[in-house]
Amino acid sequence: MLDTASNRPELPPEIGRRRTFAIISHPDAGKTTLTEKFLLYGGAIQMAGQVRAKGEARRTRSDFMKMEQDRGISVSASAMSFDYVDKYRFNLVDTPGHSDFSEDTFRTLTAVDAAIMVIDGAKGVESQTQKLFEVCRLRDLPILTFCNKMDRESRDTFDIIDEIQENLAIDVTPASWPIGVGREFLGCYDMLRDRLELMDRADRNKVAESVAIEGLDDPKLEEHIPADLLEKFREEVEMARELLPAMDHQAFLDGTLTPIWFGSAINSFGVKELMDGIAKFGPEPQIQNAEPRQVGPEEKKVSGFVFKVQANMDPKHRDRVAFVRLASGHFHRGMKLTHVRSKKPMAISNPVLFLAADRELAEEAWAGDIIGIPNHGQLRIGDALTEGEALRFTGIPSFAPELLRNCRAGDPMKAKHLEKALMQFAEEGAAKVFKPTFGSGFIVGVVGALQFEVLASRIELEYGLPVRFENSQFTSARWVQGGKDDVENFGAANKQHMATDNDGDPVFLTRLQWDIDRVARDYPEVTLSATKEMMV
Ligand code: G4P
Repeated sequence: MLDTASNRPELPPEIGRRRTFAIISHPDAGKTTLTEKFLLYGGAIQMAGQVRAKGEARRTRSDFMKMEQDRGISVSASAMSFDYVDKYRFNLVDTPGHSDFSEDTFRTLTAVDAAIMVIDGAKGVESQTQKLFEVCRLRDLPILTFCNKMDRESRDTFDIIDEIQENLAIDVTPASWPIGVGREFLGCYDMLRDRLELMDRADRNKVAESVAIEGLDDPKLEEHIPADLLEKFREEVEMARELLPAMDHQAFLDGTLTPIWFGSAINSFGVKELMDGIAKFGPEPQIQNAEPRQVGPEEKKVSGFVFKVQANMDPKHRDRVAFVRLASGHFHRGMKLTHVRSKKPMAISNPVLFLAADRELAEEAWAGDIIGIPNHGQLRIGDALTEGEALRFTGIPSFAPELLRNCRAGDPMKAKHLEKALMQFAEEGAAKVFKPTFGSGFIVGVVGALQFEVLASRIELEYGLPVRFENSQFTSARWVQGGKDDVENFGAANKQHMATDNDGDPVFLTRLQWDIDRVARDYPEVTLSATKEMMV
């Protein structure tokens, strides 16, 4: 196995060959196209969505998307697993597509070991790229960068690299260097392997021509690159070597340096080199933070944590699938694991792996893999599954919502039904649900306003329950933390502001920052927190 530049024990080969990662990008930069090409090279789908007819195109794009269509809901953040060049197993975890910074995205990123940042060569670093990058930084995730759409007019290569270095405060090392742009784009020079990779414009899915060269003075370059482009190309590469840092594996693993590849996803160009980069630089499944101790992937005993719950994947059955990132060990179907929160054993008899279009029963899985566990609601975000040890995986926070509204059932007799529906969405992580101590009804909190619409239509669709969201007297929610007695005393003195969340934890609701400051002054023994670590 590869030297990971860290002083970790060598992993069992089955674990060491796993690469679990996500793709982040601003909408339209080419995430879907790239995902599709990954699946194609991974043999998970036979043909990329080359049907370019408008309308139809989106539907045929990828099986990943088709799944979403068939089920009418997003199965995003599930993982697609596929082998790459027989040696590697890639687990590609899809990040949800909404434009708001969302908890979903954050939690998805707790399940991966690396991220690929896709940028559009003409647009550079866009707002959503920046936001998602910041989330990756919170976890020091290693980032590989793919600069897409080089077949179109794009910005100067140094400009793009400078922008990434400046806006994202990360060092950039070129793994490849583009030759020509737009109509004149010929391909790339692979700086890591000293090869010319030439694009075949005529055939989108044909593997590009690859020519080994010996340095920039190799006469073979003249055979493939017109003189005017060649001169510029040589100058640029010399300058890049002088001015930009060289690949440093440890800096990449630390998240302070990102290698950048240039390509054109739609032409399948540069995609293989990027995949080789993931294979080569990894990282392999990483150590997971937990209490009372960290968990290494090589440990014999199986453990994992739930980072996503998807309810009602099949609207006819009230099933839920909990997505579990395996943190350690070698899992077999039928294993009995301990559900740490309830301390109860759970036989995992129908775990699923997501292989392109299909869910498949997972007969076995290893640390680094993501499996789906169908259940009836026992498994919640943040829950740990182990072979008995009381582990708690940390770093899966819940964020205070930024928008609050009252939720009422169209039919007041259906309040109980509504409670059930809301609790389910809360467990799924789709919204925060607060039950005020005083008064009736529920207050629902979300991050982006669009989520209210999505919730209303899902409650109607999945529970046959029309609902209304109305303005709430409150605009902020904070979890109340502190000693048991202190929290109780605080709650008793501030009854009008108190509510409980779906786990029964106390929450302070207000519309004034002033109130939050007042509490900090008057009740130093309790803390009002905008985040809550999930679970026990
Ligand atoms: P997203 O998931 O990040 O939102 O991006 P997506 O892959 O859907 O790509 C957005 C648009 O950019 C699509 O065009 C896609 O065909 C195009 N695209 C992706 N990669 C490349 C590339 O390397 N070069 C060029 N020139 N275009 C690329 P669209 O017109 O929005 O959709 P469609 O009608 O082509 O399906």
